[in-house]
Amino acid sequence: MRNQIVAGNWKMNKTHAETEKLLSELSAKLPNTHAEVMVAPTYVNLLGAVQELESSTIEVIAQNMHFAKNGAYTGEISADMLQDIGVETVIIGHSERRAYFGETDAILKKKVAAALENNMRIMFCFGEELEDRKSGNHFNIVENQLKEALFELEAESWQRIVLAYEPVWAIGTGETASPEQAQEMHAFIRETITKAYNETIANEVSILYGGSVKPGNAAEIFSKPDVDGGLIGGASLVAEDFVAIIRAI
Ligand code: 13P
Repeated sequence: MRNQIVAGNWKMNKTHAETEKLLSELSAKLPNTHAEVMVAPTYVNLLGAVQELESSTIEVIAQNMHFAKNGAYTGEISADMLQDIGVETVIIGHSERRAYFGETDAILKKKVAAALENNMRIMFCFGEELEDRKSGNHFNIVENQLKEALFELEAESWQRIVLAYEPVWAIGTGETASPEQAQEMHAFIRETITKAYNETIANEVSILYGGSVKPGNAAEIFSKPDVDGGLIGGASLVAEDFVAIIRAI
């Protein structure tokens, strides 16, 4: 049975003190849940978060990493460095990395390979833009994003992959994909993986939905059979809201 996951992507938000405060609120309010709960603070707050959550079930994950082991890559962080401080999961391919930092499918493929080489777990993000959906091209775009970055992987590597479908038009816009749109795309993703690999892999990979998930819409989205949880941006920055979303699963 695949895992259900609720992850908070804090993006470029929260100072050190604010990070500590939010983590302690989350720890105190965390409900009993079968789902895995994860948070992704900024780089400078990762180590502090790992230390603060040492005895918690909340996992600290990274928002990004470089594909090289080390070297002359000013401003970057490697898989080794993340693992050295106890971070074992990394988000790769977020639409903001693709759009604002020029991360292409080829770069993402290298990042995926580097994370797997280090036995890390990957939360791989992808999703179509508004024009793609309007023109009915959203299934092709998503299939291509998966194919370019992931479909040359060995079957065993899929045990370390979590997928996060995040339609770009729903990120930070307040506009959510309807539960039916999310279910339709998630089912398509499983179908695509079945074709590329097999049904077992397709059924075992967790597929999260991301894009304006809030306490008010989480339960309905999570109730869909192919939606295994959420990758939450804005609402994960407020302890009560993130906790309410965790309760919804
Ligand atoms: P919002 O929940 O703020 O729309 O962000 C979603 C997201 O990009 C998570 O990675």
